[in-house]
Amino acid sequence: AGVGVAALGLSSVSGSAAAVDTRDTDQWTRAEAEQIALTDETTAPLITENSESISDDYWIWDTWPLRNRDGSIVKIDGWQIVFSLTASNDLVPGARHNEATIRYFYSRNGHDWHEGGKAFDAPLGHHQWAGSAMYDQNEEQIYHFYTAVSSHPEFRQKPALGKGASIETGPKGVELVGEQEHVIMGTPDGEMYQTYEQSIEQGIVYAFRDPWYFEHPETGEDLVVFEANTPTGSRDPTNPESFNGNIGVMRATNDELTKWELLPPVLEAVGTNQQLERPHYVFKDGKWYLFTISHQFTFAPGLSGPDALYGFVADSMYGDYEPLNEGGLVISNPEEAPFQAYSWLAMPHGDGIVAESFENFRGLDDTSRGAISLDEVGYLPPEEQKELFGGTLAPSLKLELDGTETRIVAELKDGHFLPSVGSSRPSNRSR
Ligand code: FRU
Repeated sequence: AGVGVAALGLSSVSGSAAAVDTRDTDQWTRAEAEQIALTDETTAPLITENSESISDDYWIWDTWPLRNRDGSIVKIDGWQIVFSLTASNDLVPGARHNEATIRYFYSRNGHDWHEGGKAFDAPLGHHQWAGSAMYDQNEEQIYHFYTAVSSHPEFRQKPALGKGASIETGPKGVELVGEQEHVIMGTPDGEMYQTYEQSIEQGIVYAFRDPWYFEHPETGEDLVVFEANTPTGSRDPTNPESFNGNIGVMRATNDELTKWELLPPVLEAVGTNQQLERPHYVFKDGKWYLFTISHQFTFAPGLSGPDALYGFVADSMYGDYEPLNEGGLVISNPEEAPFQAYSWLAMPHGDGIVAESFENFRGLDDTSRGAISLDEVGYLPPEEQKELFGGTLAPSLKLELDGTETRIVAELKDGHFLPSVGSSRPSNRSR
């Protein structure tokens, strides 16, 4: 994708030997996004029955597993742990975002989940949005990366770190204990990353969120990718330049991971798409697979793509990035249920990947089919809105990953993070 050229000359790093090579940021271009095509390889099977919820009391949406520093999923005394955005299921689905609280769930088999409790004692912000969680085996403590959110402009969305929690396990369950220290990791600089004020001036949705931790596979640096926007100065919603999503990256400057510096974004979608949400990497065969989720409504004028998982592959952090399957589309919902799931997270599994997601709205479509549109849901009576919303883990999908191509090969039982051999059921499609 595009040209990746001369070094930008960002070099100061403390705590690691070789700095990442920061080059000009690569673009997800309009020409590439025009190649987006729904195929059998990229279309998820239709969810025909609502999955049983993993919680009696809460809606569940964005979810992430506790991972080791190297990205592998933590299994501790036979337990695995996931974190989810949750909100009372008394709320209508659209109200959940402003009440989001991160809770943990634990399981022995990857699909029967037990509710733990809140992930934090006193987090920053009024509510918390997506993030990631890393467990340091030597320090025996969890690093919670999350988005601290408030309605105050100056505190809109800030990537935050909460550290200090440790894990207690027993035969019946898992408990997260210990006092936590919370710090803000960074704020937009207004040049590489659009500030809240700039986004308001431009009339554009603001994003500086979803920190996802990873250790650089070669240099060992501690890094975090996140969702942001590139300031373009465009105010006109009909101008593609107003659609300015990017995937940002920051680097820890101390071993405690409490101090971070912004680096140039690893990928931009200027003129292509406004939101590259929950970005994350999978490393395979020396390649950097960069995944992100995006929406139909955030594509720039003249382009179209579904609510989906998109992906790119490169030889290094600054690309060049080649969109997977030509246009970047990796998992879309079936055409008859275009909003059935969202917020896919790809994780390495065997030779391929497993992607988990949550059940979003069923029975919605574009109004030309006589169905209810996404915009109309909020006007339905509360009970009808809740009826249409899943709000729990969707069946995970197993994908083959071959160079620049992916293929959905199986649908796994609900919320399967570590599928064991024989536990998967074949997808409708491959039958
Ligand atoms: C993706 C997302 C994230 C955000 C959260 C808010 O589904 O939009 O970017 O952290 O949901 O609910």
